Amino acid sequence: MKVVLVVFCLIMSSLMMKGAQAGDFYRDFDLTWGGQRAKISEGGQFLTLSLDKYSGSGFQSKNEYLFGRIDLQLKLVPGNSAGTVTTYYLSSQGPAHDEIDFEFLGNLSGNPYTVHTNVFTQGKGNREQQFYLWFDPTKAFHTYSILWNPQRILFLVDNVPIREFVNKESMGVPFPNKQAMRIYSSLWNADDWATMGGRVKTDWTQAPFTASYRNFNANACAWSAGKSSCASTTTTSSTTSSSDVWRTQALDANGRQRLKWVQKKFMIYNYCTDLKRFPQGLPPECKK
Ligand SMILES: *[C@@H]1O[C@H](CO)[C@@H](O)[C@H](O)[C@H]1NC(C)=O
Repeated sequence: MKVVLVVFCLIMSSLMMKGAQAGDFYRDFDLTWGGQRAKISEGGQFLTLSLDKYSGSGFQSKNEYLFGRIDLQLKLVPGNSAGTVTTYYLSSQGPAHDEIDFEFLGNLSGNPYTVHTNVFTQGKGNREQQFYLWFDPTKAFHTYSILWNPQRILFLVDNVPIREFVNKESMGVPFPNKQAMRIYSSLWNADDWATMGGRVKTDWTQAPFTASYRNFNANACAWSAGKSSCASTTTTSSTTSSSDVWRTQALDANGRQRLKWVQKKFMIYNYCTDLKRFPQGLPPECKK
């Protein structure tokens, strides 16, 4: 009996560890386009995407996830990155897809990147919020996280919440909680709209443009064949390990204050205050 218990505990703890294990780009991702422009090195710990006149590049996770906390460190294209867009998002498939987006819009040297965010539910987006950052995202790696649990989505930059999308299904606003999503990232040319509304074009004499990635970590519920990797542990374990905090995480007073600070100082667009765009009234999730 004792032996059985020990073996059971070992299996359970290794299952729980799995969610917290540091990522390996070789193991966790497929390089999906751009050929040699997407590269993994340092034994799976480092990844670069590049863009030239002929093509961009991208990768996607092997797993699909239904809820989780995804952390990824990025160092964005330095120098004159105008016209380039680096994306990092979660998306399900199909016409009524769900999507949680980070997009980094490049700029002329010395001008700030724009962080564009959006949330799609059942194929419908139109929920853009945009921000500047409080640091130069091309000088060093910074951590960009998506925390997604059944109650809310949080967008975090170096653990500072920049956006919260709360589950308001009770008000008839769809929330992404039924479709599993993959993690995607790409670097591509979008100089028809990205920088200053498309007025500044990509300077191809600066190509190739390169963005770098490291320290991928998914504390997430992998979804496969209709089953969640989390199902067994959520119902049976009464103690929550620190890697499971995301499952019920909400903003505390400090988080709320930091979110306010970002929205006050660094927010450049918020669909929730764009009355011109919604003359019939703001979307229901925007009401306080
Ligand atoms: C680029 O820099 C200009 C000037 O500072 C700024 O208005 C703009 O929002 C920045 N970002 C993009 C993506 O154009």
